[in-house]
Amino acid sequence: MPDPKAVNSMFARIAGRYDLANHLLSGGVDHWWRLWLVRAVRDTQPGAVLDLATGSGDVAFALADGLPRGVEVIGMDFCQPMLDEAVSKRAANPRWTKIGFKQGDGMALPLPDAAFDALTISFGLRNMADRHQALSEMRRVLRRGGRLFVLEFSQPYFWFRPFYYAYLKFVLPLVAGRVTGDRSAYEYLGGSIESFPDRAKMSEEIRRAGFSDVRATPFTFGIVALHEARA
Ligand SMILES: C[S@@+](CC[C@H](N)C(=O)[O-])C[C@H]1O[C@@H](n2cnc3c(N)ncnc32)[C@H](O)[C@@H]1O
Repeated sequence: MPDPKAVNSMFARIAGRYDLANHLLSGGVDHWWRLWLVRAVRDTQPGAVLDLATGSGDVAFALADGLPRGVEVIGMDFCQPMLDEAVSKRAANPRWTKIGFKQGDGMALPLPDAAFDALTISFGLRNMADRHQALSEMRRVLRRGGRLFVLEFSQPYFWFRPFYYAYLKFVLPLVAGRVTGDRSAYEYLGGSIESFPDRAKMSEEIRRAGFSDVRATPFTFGIVALHEARA
C-alpha cells in the first residue's frame, strides 16, 4: 500500500505540471472519461456532491458544468499544492466560483455523517494507504442510498495488456519525466496501475465496505473503469 507522506509530497512536487502531463499521457481521453463520470452522476440527480482526491479540480469543474446550477460541489484533497492549482483555475469560469475546495484526508474525512448525495473519486483511490478505510469513510459521509462513483485505472482487456504494460513501463516515465521533471513519480504511477485490482476484485472491495448494487463499466479497452455503488 502507498505511503501517504510520500504520495502527498510526490503530488506536491508535480502539482504545477500535473494537468499538462495528464492530458499528454492520456492523449486527451481523460476529458471523455470525466464526461462519462459526470453523465452517470447527473442521472442520480444529487443535491450535494463531494469530489474526493480532487487534485487540480478538473472533475469538480466538470461536475459544476454538467450538473444543474444550485447543486453543491465540494472538492477535497490532502495535498495543498494540488488544491492551490484548483483554486487558481476556479476564477476562470463563473459557474465554478461556488465550488468549495478544502483540505482533508480520505482516511479520516473532516466531514459529518450523511452529508452528501453523491461522492466521486477519480484516480485517487489507487493512491490511498488503506482502501477499505477510505471506502468506509466515503460510505459514512454519504446519506443512506447515496451514490459512490469510483473512476480509476483498471486491468485492460487481455489482448491489450502487452502494449499497455510496455507503455506504462517505458513511455510513461520518459514522457512524464520530461514534462514534470520527476520521472520517479511516474515510475510509481505505472507500478501502482499495474498492481491495481481488476473490475471484479475492485467491486468486491466496494461491497466489503458496505456498499450495494455495485457495477463496473470499462472504458478505453478496459484501462479505466467506472465503479458505481449505493451506500
Ligand atoms: C492522480 S491525482 C487525481 C486528481 C483528480 N481527481 C483527477 O482526476 O485529475 C490523485 C490525487 O489524490 C490525492 N490523494 C491521495 N491520497 C489522498 C488521501 N489520503 N486523501 C486525500 N487526497 C489524497 C492526491 O493528493 C492527488 O491530488
